[in-house]
Amino acid sequence: MAKAKTLSFIAALLLAGGASFAQSLKDTPYIPTEENLQARKEFQDNKFGIFIHWGIYSMVGHGEWYMNNRNIPRDEYATLAEGFYPSKFDAKEWVSAIKASGAKYITITSRHHDGFSMFGTKLSDYNIVDGTPFGRDILKELSEECRRQGIKLHFYYSHLDWYRDDYPVGNSGRGVGRPTNRQNWESYYEFMNGQLKELLTGYGPVGAIWFDGIWDDKSRDWKLEEQYEMIHSLQPSCLIGNNHHVAPYRGEDFQMFERDLPGENSAGFSSGQDISVLPLETCQTMNGSWGYNIEDRNYKSAEALIQFLVKAAGKNANLLLNIGPQPNGELPALALQRLSEIGAWMEKNGDTIYGTRGGDVAPHSWGVSTRKGNRLFIHILDYEDTRLFLPMQAKVVKAAKYADGSPIQFTQDKEGVILKLPEVPSGVDYIVELSLK
Ligand code: GLC
Repeated sequence: MAKAKTLSFIAALLLAGGASFAQSLKDTPYIPTEENLQARKEFQDNKFGIFIHWGIYSMVGHGEWYMNNRNIPRDEYATLAEGFYPSKFDAKEWVSAIKASGAKYITITSRHHDGFSMFGTKLSDYNIVDGTPFGRDILKELSEECRRQGIKLHFYYSHLDWYRDDYPVGNSGRGVGRPTNRQNWESYYEFMNGQLKELLTGYGPVGAIWFDGIWDDKSRDWKLEEQYEMIHSLQPSCLIGNNHHVAPYRGEDFQMFERDLPGENSAGFSSGQDISVLPLETCQTMNGSWGYNIEDRNYKSAEALIQFLVKAAGKNANLLLNIGPQPNGELPALALQRLSEIGAWMEKNGDTIYGTRGGDVAPHSWGVSTRKGNRLFIHILDYEDTRLFLPMQAKVVKAAKYADGSPIQFTQDKEGVILKLPEVPSGVDYIVELSLK
C-alpha cells in the first residue's frame, strides 16, 4: 500500500512537471512501508534489548576506544586478531542468558571504530573468520541461535574506521599511523554499502541497523539517504537508527539517546536533540564501559538498572542495556548476575512494561506511568508518603496494588486522582494498576 502511495506520488510529480524529478523526490517526506511501520510497533512493544560491544579490543581489556586513546599503531593493534581465540564463546549460552533477562532483542557490534569486522565479510580479510585462529563467524552463529530462540538481532555498524587506508581522516584515530595519501571516500562508501549488503542478505532478518560515528566528520556529506534506501530495499522491515546525537534524519526509523533518558542530558551527548515522534531508544552501560574493561567492576545495582528500564518505559522509550563480553567469549559473571536479577523482576512485572507506551501521568520525581489499553500502571520508584496526587483526566474505575491485586482507595476530581496507599511505598518499584473507563 505504501509502495502504491509512493508510486502515485511519483506519477503526480511527473505529470506536474516543474522542478527536476530527482530534486523533487529528495524533498518528499520519507514514507515507511507497512512492514516497516509494523516493525516499529513491535520494536516499541519489546521495550528492552541487550547491547553487545565485542571485538578484538576485548583482549586488551580497556574498552573499544583503546586504539585511539593510546595511539596504538594500527598494524600493531591488528596483531591482536592473530591471537583472538574466544574458546568459550557459545551463542546458545549468550542468547539463553539474555532471553532469561526478559530482553527481546540483541544489538551487537558488527564492526566498531577499530575497523575489525566481527563477521565473515568478503570485502576485507580483517575479520573474525579470515583474520583470527578462531575462524568462526560469531554473527552467523548468533543469528541462527536468535532465530531458534525467537529473539531479534540488530547490528551496530560504525561509519568511521581507524584501520582502513581509504577512510578519510576524521577527528578521531589520527595517531594510529594510517597513511594519509590513500584516502578515498568513494571507495570507503562502496565498502560500507557492500558490508551492509552482506549483513542484510546473509544473516536472516535483521531487526535494525544501529549506526554510529558520523560525528567524526560533521562537515562530510555521508550520503545517508542512499545508504538508508539500500537497506530498506533489501529488508523493508529493518529499522534504521543513527547515534548522531541530533534529531532524526530522513529515512531513520527510530531515535536514540546515548546514556540518557529522552529529554535529559547528564552525559552531554543529547544537547542538540529534541524528542521526535519516532520510536525512542536509550542505551546505557551496566558498569561504566561499552567494550570489556577488565578494571571496571563498578556495576550499577540491579535495582538501579530496573528503575532505569521502568523510567525509560515511562518516557516512551526502549532500554538497550550494554554488556562487554570477555576475550574468552563469555559474558562477565557480574553481567550474567544482573541479567538474571532483571529477569526475575520482569517475570513478575513485565506485563506493566511490554507493549506499553508512556502513560497519562507525565514522569515525576516519584516515578512514571505506563499504559496498555485501559490499564494504566503507576510505577512509584521513590516516594515517602501514603497520599499520591496523579494529574490526569481519564476516568479511573478501579485501583489495585499490582503485586497482589488488593484494592487501593482513591478519589478523583477534574484535576486528577489522589491515591490513598495502604503503606509507604517500598521496593524497587511499587506498582499500582488503574483500570480506566
Ligand atoms: C559512542 C562511542 C562508542 C559506543 C557508542 C555506544 O558513540 O563512540 O564507542 O559504541 O557510543 O552508544
